[in-house]
Amino acid sequence: METVVSGIRSTGNLHLGNYFGALKNFIQMQNEHNCYFFIADLHSLTTHPTPGDLHKSVRTVLVEYLAAGLDPEKCTLYIQSDIPEISELYLFLNMNAYLGELERVASFKEKVRSQPNNVNAGLLTYPVLMTADIIIHKASKVPVGKDQEQHLEMARNFGNRFNRMYDVEYFPEPYAFNFGKELIKVPGLDGKGKMSKSAGENTAIFLSDEPEVILKKIKKAVTDMTPEQANSPKPDSIQNLFDLMSLVSASDTIAHFEETWNNCSIRYGDMKKQLAEDMNTFITPIRERIKEVDADKDFIAKAVKIGEEKARASASKTIQEVKEIIGFRKLY
Ligand code: ADP
Ligand code: TRP
Repeated sequence: METVVSGIRSTGNLHLGNYFGALKNFIQMQNEHNCYFFIADLHSLTTHPTPGDLHKSVRTVLVEYLAAGLDPEKCTLYIQSDIPEISELYLFLNMNAYLGELERVASFKEKVRSQPNNVNAGLLTYPVLMTADIIIHKASKVPVGKDQEQHLEMARNFGNRFNRMYDVEYFPEPYAFNFGKELIKVPGLDGKGKMSKSAGENTAIFLSDEPEVILKKIKKAVTDMTPEQANSPKPDSIQNLFDLMSLVSASDTIAHFEETWNNCSIRYGDMKKQLAEDMNTFITPIRERIKEVDADKDFIAKAVKIGEEKARASASKTIQEVKEIIGFRKLY
């Protein structure tokens, strides 16, 4: 049985990108492995949420984790900031993380471009905190979407560097994981990038979205001209619609629209209507469960309490051993 760790930032409601890139694997993995899943509320401080917003988002993510099927009896489900040992390990790892390598990380460079007025040290050392999250439980598998691949490479570097520096074989190498082998990138509805909350509400379909909201967003999704030549290659915006369909629609439905694309009779309005309907069918049971869990304070409170206990037991063991390795030993 392997040890698995993953987290999702607490920036609000979860969307289908989070679900298919990460959460779906969490739900399956909890039955087979020693799993630690958490809400990355420390990571979310890089965007400076108000105390009220931070608190609300943590609760939202927790409720949605539970509603989607994470079982606090099967996995260790916790809030990152409840485990101070993670911040302690982050501090130790920072001493051997170098400016050059951190500045070269694609997600950091993207933030420098997109938010030049808030390039804080937390953003720069984001992969170090992420490494601490993972190796605090000595995990080897990390279910994440494709965008996190480079961060996992950094985690292997930092863990190996620690091992080499102290001449120990303490931390195992963590690898990004997806049951379908390939890591996933769920496209957004804007015809360009990935589905993401930060790219704007309208590019993402949330697990809590009501049917009319889903339909409205999908109707607005970017499309292109109808093809004029049979079997033409698809432009990105159309490929994205097909990619989204492949997540939620039946194979004969997809085959039907493939055929209409290939013989140039495709009607995007019909395709979008079908996609919205299939997304709604997929989301409805989760959306309803979100409402139930949201109303069940005792269940939520119990889940975080046992999660905190189990996660701290594992984290404090690692920190004690790491301190011993580094040389923080009792004088007398
Ligand atoms: P967001 O991009 O909306 O801020 P996060 O960065 O917190 O979401 O992502 C949490 C998890 O969900 C990560 O494992 C990430 O790889 C995955 N994820 C997020 N968006 C997508 C997407 N569009 N496709 C695949 N996986 C995704
Ligand atoms: N960086 C991840 C994201 O933005 C979230 C995350 C933080 C994470 N710590 C992690 C994922 C540890 C896996 C393991 O999506």
